[in-house]
Amino acid sequence: MGRIVKNIEELVGHTPLFEFVKYEEKENIKAHILGKLEYFNPSGSVKDRAALNMIKAAEREGILHPGDTIVENTSGNTGIGLAAFAASRGYKLTVFMEPGQSEERQKILRAYGADLQSMLDVPGVAEALGNGTFSTQFYQDAIQAYCDAQPTPHYFINQLANEANPRVHYATTGPEIWEDTDGKTDILVATSGTAGTITGLTKFFKEKNPDIKVVAVQADPTSRPGGSENPQTIDGTAPFGDPGFPDAFKAPFIVGFNYDECIDVKGEDAYALGREIAKTDGVFLGQSAAAALYAATLVAKRPENEGKNIVVILADNGMKYLSTNMYPLDKRVQ
Ligand SMILES: Cc1ncc(COP(=O)(O)O)c(C=O)c1O
Repeated sequence: MGRIVKNIEELVGHTPLFEFVKYEEKENIKAHILGKLEYFNPSGSVKDRAALNMIKAAEREGILHPGDTIVENTSGNTGIGLAAFAASRGYKLTVFMEPGQSEERQKILRAYGADLQSMLDVPGVAEALGNGTFSTQFYQDAIQAYCDAQPTPHYFINQLANEANPRVHYATTGPEIWEDTDGKTDILVATSGTAGTITGLTKFFKEKNPDIKVVAVQADPTSRPGGSENPQTIDGTAPFGDPGFPDAFKAPFIVGFNYDECIDVKGEDAYALGREIAKTDGVFLGQSAAAALYAATLVAKRPENEGKNIVVILADNGMKYLSTNMYPLDKRVQ
């Protein structure tokens, strides 16, 4: 039967669950590594789900109207998803981003018509960073104040505190995985940015089966974006699991969240695995996806996990990282 899609929103979700059989064979892995290929979403990442759900929730609540400007702080994928759906629904979009985001991300956002601003342009932020009073809450308040001061309606979508972010993973990503594994999911492995994905999924899975293990993945301290000398950072991840890491700098959803284990991954290990898996299984991963797969591999190799289904969330693909040194070009054809 024919099927013609008339709106990109119809393409959000129902992403494939892919078993890395060639890689498992090569590494003699006896567990099943099942990658949720979130780059099959229409703007290319897991964040399409949250972006669309947050817009729909605001419309339902009557706080967002056609022609309004949506405002968000984002380092890329949420902005790209919002930009795509702002275009399809008739909104303007302003994104505030950390300095130094890859050229691809910025060009994609511009292609969808978004207005790009530096986070340092939010009134008060540069000063707060300079005098040590900056925190996640401070940043959220500063953007809200910016929106309130605009002469036309500006709606701050605030993925860090917006319940429609984790809720969409509880409502869609979790059930999709549950169905595709016939209810046999043993271990979940995911990175965390806003923590919408991991907390929404954990809520769903723990309700289904309290014995499911949740492995949260973060960048090793040497591989964190911003302030790191290491050119091999892991984009799309926020630190949360170090002893003593202050709550004020964590994504609010991860504060108090109970995971079973936290694994630190080094950028060089994630990059190397990204390069390998493109060749073994033909899957081209982004940085956080490769980091998550690296952690899933460590878990899969443990003897006690033989035969288990390990689901790993693969947030995006390698296209947005072509200007980084994750996928170098060692031979150029002239
Ligand atoms: C590449 C990438 N990986 C992982 C994540 C984490 O997703 P979440 O915000 O749901 O924790 C994000 C977004 O934040 C991302 O852009």
